[in-house]
Amino acid sequence: MTFIECRRLTKSYQKGDSTITPLQELDLDVDAGDFLALMGPSGSGKTTLLNLIAGIDQPTGGTLRIADFDISPLSKSRLADWRSDNIGYIFQLYNLVSVLTAYENVELPLLLHRLSATERHARVAAALELVGVADRHDHFPRQLSGGQEQRVAIARAIVTNPKIIVADEPTGDLDADSAAAIMQLLTRLNREHGRTLLMVTHDSKCAAYARHTLHLEKGRLVEGHQLAARRTRETQEATT
Ligand SMILES: Nc1ncnc2c1ncn2[C@@H]1O[C@H](COP(=O)(O)OP(=O)(O)O)[C@@H](O)[C@H]1O
Ligand SMILES: [Mg+2]
Repeated sequence: MTFIECRRLTKSYQKGDSTITPLQELDLDVDAGDFLALMGPSGSGKTTLLNLIAGIDQPTGGTLRIADFDISPLSKSRLADWRSDNIGYIFQLYNLVSVLTAYENVELPLLLHRLSATERHARVAAALELVGVADRHDHFPRQLSGGQEQRVAIARAIVTNPKIIVADEPTGDLDADSAAAIMQLLTRLNREHGRTLLMVTHDSKCAAYARHTLHLEKGRLVEGHQLAARRTRETQEATT
């Protein structure tokens, strides 16, 4: 069943006399419970697409339906409300608040929701436990390793029970072992907890954890066979 449906989804920016179009009439269907990896060269529109689906940016054209609800015409403030109910965002550089403890960082998104203190505490504790950093709840970000910081950031992303988790190069700043551990955690969130996951990555080892991989180039999706043909062409050019 299609859960995220992009139709002719477009994002353009006006810069003086010229128009930059990071995303061009993109069609995409993502099923509920899918785990999708997005790859592509720098500047190909990966973050732009993620930010549209996450309700951080608004499209300039096309439609974007999520769970049968078109979010493309929403105002900025309605979009922000929608986002806090539906999206968990994981960043490459964690984006934890440095003056808050791990616990307080995870609690932060819940303060936008109407919950009793008891319920809030239970949710934060469960999220920290799930990602394996419950014992670090009173540590500040600077007292944590990169891998631990990303675990706290993942706890913050899931604590509101969002339907969709988006991750923009979540292992981009981690060593290979920490990256593998984070990928195993994300895979568990998808397989065991049914979260729909969209992840941008440069690393084919990370993409291999996903159920599907899509490639973007210059704001458009590139089909697998186009990509294979281009790679063959490039290999031939390199050897002649
Ligand atoms: N706010 C903005 N204003 C103007 N151009 C932008 C803006 N955000 C992104 N772009 C441009 O859109 C293109 C795609 O960016 P992005 O989606 O961040 O690429 P990727 O994540 O694949 O590296 C880039 O050329 C970038 O300069
Ligand atoms: Mg990017």
